[in-house]
Amino acid sequence: MKPVKIVGLGKYLPPKKLTNSDLEKMVDTSDEWITTRTGIKERRIAEDMPSSELAYRASQQALKNAGLGADDLDLIIVASITPDNFFPSTACRLQSLLKARKAAAFDISAACSGFVYGLTCAWQMIGAGLYKNVLVVGSEVLSSVTDWQDRSTCVLFGDGAGAAVLTEATKKSFLSSHLGADGSRAALLNIPAGGSRMPASQQTVDDKLHCIKMKGNELFRVAVRVMVDAAKISLSKAGLKPEDLDMLVPHQANKRIIDAVVKSLKIKDKVYFNLSRYGNMSSASCAVALCEAYQESKIKKGDIVVLDTFGGGLVWGSCVIKWAL
Ligand code: UT7
Repeated sequence: MKPVKIVGLGKYLPPKKLTNSDLEKMVDTSDEWITTRTGIKERRIAEDMPSSELAYRASQQALKNAGLGADDLDLIIVASITPDNFFPSTACRLQSLLKARKAAAFDISAACSGFVYGLTCAWQMIGAGLYKNVLVVGSEVLSSVTDWQDRSTCVLFGDGAGAAVLTEATKKSFLSSHLGADGSRAALLNIPAGGSRMPASQQTVDDKLHCIKMKGNELFRVAVRVMVDAAKISLSKAGLKPEDLDMLVPHQANKRIIDAVVKSLKIKDKVYFNLSRYGNMSSASCAVALCEAYQESKIKKGDIVVLDTFGGGLVWGSCVIKWAL
């Protein structure tokens, strides 16, 4: 296997902010409830922008930071649960926007773990010698699948995109990955209609079955256990322990989940947190968090960085990176 590293990161957050006090005017909720139960204060809303457009802006920044052009890309992977269409893939739309003429392109559906699934694919494909430069993007317009009358979900989600460019390296930077799934628990978090299982009809629209449905309480309990296990397994695959970690970049679903994971791993303060500003952006959460942690100098060269994600599917994914930027 050839060594692989991240050489550029980018993000795009649409400018429109939706604050907790805005939500107080829309549903029966309060800033106090949202803040104490989730840690979220505001989220971004992409008005009339599909996921590919957000991905495009994040990718342009990542390519610029990598010192590469779109023509250098061999492959584009987009992780999204809010793709522009069923097909063509959002990755194909992004390829067209970027004019990345020689790049292959495909989407990944792995919900909040999509970015880590995508990084793992890119790492392995570059490592195997199939491609040299790969762009991985997590991009979501969750506002398009949110039921704005359901207070149990509409306060949680936001829109955004994060991107990473990976390339061949001389020293090992990606050290390990652990991906997992439990499809038997699909009912805990899903969008019931719109696919071949329940095609769109007037009834499904009336019943809001094209929106996110979540059993938050049950999910919460699984999330903590699964994220702790995933981080421990990926670290042990890299021959490391939680105390060796310099920065945990977790999926940003709930501050209480992150706090419980940090407590269990005994890694106080070694965690990046931006959930308060953006809410849960599914595949984009970890991608944007990684980008911001680096931009804010919370991650430096040589650090052991652990990405740790969990989401609908159920799916989870963690990878360990010895930071090389
Ligand atoms: O990204 C994928 C992974 N996602 C997750 O892992 C999410 C995991 N789950 C969670 O983060 C939390 O379960 C939630 C934030 C979704 C909910 O927090 P909770 O502490 O589990 O609340 P709950 O669902 O048990 O509801 C507690 C109470 C209920 O009222 P009663 O029955 O106790 O009277 C709800 O009706 O809070 C009520 N409630 C609200 N009240 C004000 C639910 N949503 C709201 C709201 N504002 N927005």
